[in-house]
Amino acid sequence: MIINNKCTGCGICKKECTMHSIDITDNKATLLGSCINCGHCFAVCPNEAIDLEMPYLPTTPLSKILYFRRSLRQYENKLIPKEVLDEIISNASAYPSAVNQKCASVTIVCDPILLKTVRLSVMNTLKDKFKLLNYGPIRFFAKLFLGDNFKKVIRYKKLFDNMSEECDGITFHAPCLVFVHGNKNKIFIDEDCHYLAYNIVLLANEAGLGSCFMGFIRGHINKKTKKLLNIPKDDKIYSVFTLGYPSVEFLRPVPQEKVKTIVY
Ligand SMILES: Cc1cc2nc3c(=O)[nH]c(=O)nc-3n(C[C@H](O)[C@H](O)[C@H](O)COP(=O)(O)O)c2cc1C
Ligand code: SF4
Ligand code: SF4
Repeated sequence: MIINNKCTGCGICKKECTMHSIDITDNKATLLGSCINCGHCFAVCPNEAIDLEMPYLPTTPLSKILYFRRSLRQYENKLIPKEVLDEIISNASAYPSAVNQKCASVTIVCDPILLKTVRLSVMNTLKDKFKLLNYGPIRFFAKLFLGDNFKKVIRYKKLFDNMSEECDGITFHAPCLVFVHGNKNKIFIDEDCHYLAYNIVLLANEAGLGSCFMGFIRGHINKKTKKLLNIPKDDKIYSVFTLGYPSVEFLRPVPQEKVKTIVY
């Protein structure tokens, strides 16, 4: 995967790798394992020293935008102007909606204190959950249950065990966090929210912003934090993602495995 004679050991790929799967030894990048094949190292390497064996590259203008978009985890310390956010949300409002109910809502958190509260609440919840794996019987059943995914979980456990309040391995110091939510009793509200969320992500991309979906936050936000954000009790949060200006440059699209398809 790493082409040694092209690698200068600059470390850009190491900084970008969310799985901490790359080290630099003797001025060369080396792979440590736990790679999730995201292609971020491939996209940022200034010397084309990383090879990917994934076959499909985009062919049309829209598909090129889709293939260039990366989950962003390195942000500039810069606020997003309110007008930029307003324009993105207005444009994203043309999302497909079941029976045109259009009742998905968006809560955007840019206040640094509120952002930190959300982040720390999720971090502490996850730390507590991962701690359960220190108990032999729970670890045994988790291993049995999770199969191949157990190693990934242990890797995340280590990340969270060592995570301090200031080291932001959850939202990566992004200046903005977006929650897309809607009344759980409305039909197909989950789909409505997902379509709206991806509209926002793509339009943000067009406005020069990056984003990263936050499964950790969506899955572990507690009632108290939801209340703090004034998200109605009957609303379910269907998508959470960061927004911010990138401090890393993605130089090329990442090839992808083609989706398995059956045509009858
Ligand atoms: C539903 C969902 C949840 C995700 N949750 C997280 C997360 O909690 N933290 C994170 O760093 N990335 C998260 N990601 C980003 C994925 O890791 C990323 O999409 C994947 O590695 C592929 O990289 P790419 O989006 O740059 O193509 C999530 C993505 C999706 C779609
Ligand atoms: S970004 Fe490229 S050149 Fe730099 S260390 Fe990584 S593989 Fe080597
Ligand atoms: S493909 Fe992704 S996970 Fe694998 S080494 Fe590169 S950046 Fe890290």
